[in-house]
Amino acid sequence: MHYLITGHTGFKGAWLTLMLTQQGHQVSGLSLDPEPGSLYEVGDVGELIHKDIRGDIRSADTVRAALETTSPDAVFHLAAQPLVRESYSDPRTTVETNVMGTFNVIEAISAVPSIQASVIITTDKVYRNVNQIQGYIESDPLGGHDPYSASKAMTDILAQSWMLSFPGSPMAIARAGNVIGGGDVCQDRLMPDLMNGFSQGSEVLLRYPEAVRPWQHVLDCLTGYQLLMQELITRNPMILEQPTWNFGPGPANFKTVGEVADLAAKLWGSPASWSVPTQTHPHEAELLALDATAARQKLGWADRLDFSQAVEWTVEWTKSVNSGIDPHTATISQITQFETLVNQ
Ligand SMILES: NC(=O)c1ccc[n+]([C@@H]2O[C@H](COP(=O)([O-])OP(=O)(O)OC[C@H]3O[C@@H](n4cnc5c(N)ncnc54)[C@H](O)[C@@H]3O)[C@@H](O)[C@H]2O)c1
Repeated sequence: MHYLITGHTGFKGAWLTLMLTQQGHQVSGLSLDPEPGSLYEVGDVGELIHKDIRGDIRSADTVRAALETTSPDAVFHLAAQPLVRESYSDPRTTVETNVMGTFNVIEAISAVPSIQASVIITTDKVYRNVNQIQGYIESDPLGGHDPYSASKAMTDILAQSWMLSFPGSPMAIARAGNVIGGGDVCQDRLMPDLMNGFSQGSEVLLRYPEAVRPWQHVLDCLTGYQLLMQELITRNPMILEQPTWNFGPGPANFKTVGEVADLAAKLWGSPASWSVPTQTHPHEAELLALDATAARQKLGWADRLDFSQAVEWTVEWTKSVNSGIDPHTATISQITQFETLVNQ
C-alpha cells in the first residue's frame, strides 16, 4: 500500500511512518518542517519517505497538488496544531489549521481517484466535557472549552458532515487520548517535559498534577488507526456504518498527571523530581476518559501495553538514546518488540 500521511514530520506521524515502512508499505507525507530535535529529524525518518512534501494545509492548492502528485492508496490525516496552551496564545492559527486545513484535505481526498480510504484524526478532547467518571462513547455530545478542543470538535463535525453530504471513498474519524512515547518534542506536554527535565537533572513543574487522563502508548494508538484503515479499505459493512471511533485505554490507564510523573521518576532511577508552580494556568479539563468498546468489539483492537509499560517504554527510549543508541534504532527496536506482544 502507498499511504500519504499529513503531519508525517510530527510525533505520531514519525512513529506511523516507521511502523508502516517497517511493514513494507510505501509512505509519502505532507507537513511543515520538523521541529528541531524531533524524532523525524534525529531518527532519519525522511530517508524512508517516498515523496516528502513540505507545505501548509491551510492552502487548498498545496493540499490538492500534494495528493495529486503522490496519488496514494490511502490517507491518514494527522496534521494539526495539537496543543491546548498554544491554542490560547494563537487561536486563529489553531482554527485555520485544524478546521480549514482539514476541509482542504477532505476536499482533495474526494478529488483524487486513487484514494481508497482515509482516516481523519481528531482527539478525545472533542467531547463536551462534563467530568464524567465513565468514558465518553462515540455518540456523546461534542463541545470544546478551549480553542484547541473547539477546533477539533469543528473538524470532527465537518468530516462527519462531509461523509453524509458527499459520500465517496470510505472515511472515518479516529479519536484517541493522551499518547506517550519516545521522541515527542511538543512543548507543554507531560512526557517531553519530564524526559527533558530528568535528562538535564532539573526539577519538572507540573501544571495540573490532579488532572486525570487516559494514557496510552503511541504504538497502541497507531495500531488502532491502522486497523480502522484496513477495514475501510476492505469496505467492511459493519465498520462503514460507524463514522467515529474511540481508541482509548481501559480504566486501569486513567491516571493523574502526578501518578505518571511519580512512576516516570521512579523508573528513571537517578535523581528526578517534580513540583507544582504557584501561578495559575488557562483552563484544562480535570477528567477525560474514553470508552473504546466499539473498537475493541468490532475492530478487535486492544492495548498491548498497560499503563506502567507505556511509561516504561517511554523512559527506556529516552534513556537508551541518552546512552548513545541512535533514535532510529531505538524506535525500530520498540516497533519490533511491540509486534511480538499479544493484546492485553
Ligand atoms: N499526541 C497526543 O497525545 C494526541 C492526542 C490526541 C490527538 N492528537 C492528534 O494527533 C495528531 C498528531 O499529533 P502529534 O502529537 O503528532 O502532533 P505534532 O505537533 O508532533 O505534529 C503535528 C504535525 O502537523 C504538522 N502541521 C502542523 N500545522 C500544519 C500546517 N499548517 N500545514 C501542514 N502541516 C502542519 C506538523 O508539521 C507536524 O508534522 C493531531 O491531529 C493531534 O491533534 C494527538
